[in-house]
Amino acid sequence: MRLPLIAGNWKMHTTVTEAVALVKSMQERLDEINGVEKVVCPPFISLTAVAELVKDSSIELGAQNMHSEDKGAYTGEVSPLMLSGLCQFVILGHSERREHFGESDVMINKKVQAALKAGLKPILCVGERLEENEAGMTIEVISRQIQADLQGITSAGGLVIAYEPVWAIGTGRAASGEQANDTIGIIRKLIAEIYSDEVAQELRILYGGSVSSANIAEFISQPEIDGALVGGASLRAEEFLSIVEQTARIKGSR
Ligand code: PGA
Repeated sequence: MRLPLIAGNWKMHTTVTEAVALVKSMQERLDEINGVEKVVCPPFISLTAVAELVKDSSIELGAQNMHSEDKGAYTGEVSPLMLSGLCQFVILGHSERREHFGESDVMINKKVQAALKAGLKPILCVGERLEENEAGMTIEVISRQIQADLQGITSAGGLVIAYEPVWAIGTGRAASGEQANDTIGIIRKLIAEIYSDEVAQELRILYGGSVSSANIAEFISQPEIDGALVGGASLRAEEFLSIVEQTARIKGSR
């Protein structure tokens, strides 16, 4: 019922030339895979070149961040207005933004509102840190983030949530499929409380954190997990293709 989604978060990797080469190396085979929404999120500077490349393909584009204002004296920032028309998705609230760039839930909430207003689909990232996980605070932390990040947002159409335990990002230590499924199930219940059962059933919730071709099947075979936000593995064409292919196969066989 929910279309699976695999998004590649390239982070601060690839020059424009490398970004174009990476997309070119995957494009044909990605285009042949049906039943999965495929999104790549290169750095801002490569968005225009990649957009041109994928304009007639099934590959969609996402940005990794944006400012909440449409324009203004914000040196170095990129606005929703600049992104709309160029890409369909925008990653917001990634734990690296929260940690290294001081993004608060208040800021993230403004960005989510601005993205929806601009017609962009936010991929809102939430997740607990290692010490919070060890203290048994996972649900508390995630609930707090979701409630704050979606504050005042009455219509969640287009929204995607990514559950990314911070301790699993870039560490090679992924959550187990079962763990991730349980937490994502709780996120879905929370969305039902905030909005409605209908909205919760339609909203896609991804898992992220050390996803690779070796473990994607474990996640994607879980009923609550609708796809993945992939970091490191999305920079390697064969890895990313395999993740998308396995997702199509497993979700398609249901
Ligand atoms: P990773 O990153 O797959 O390299 O762990 C995931 C992310 O940060 O979105």
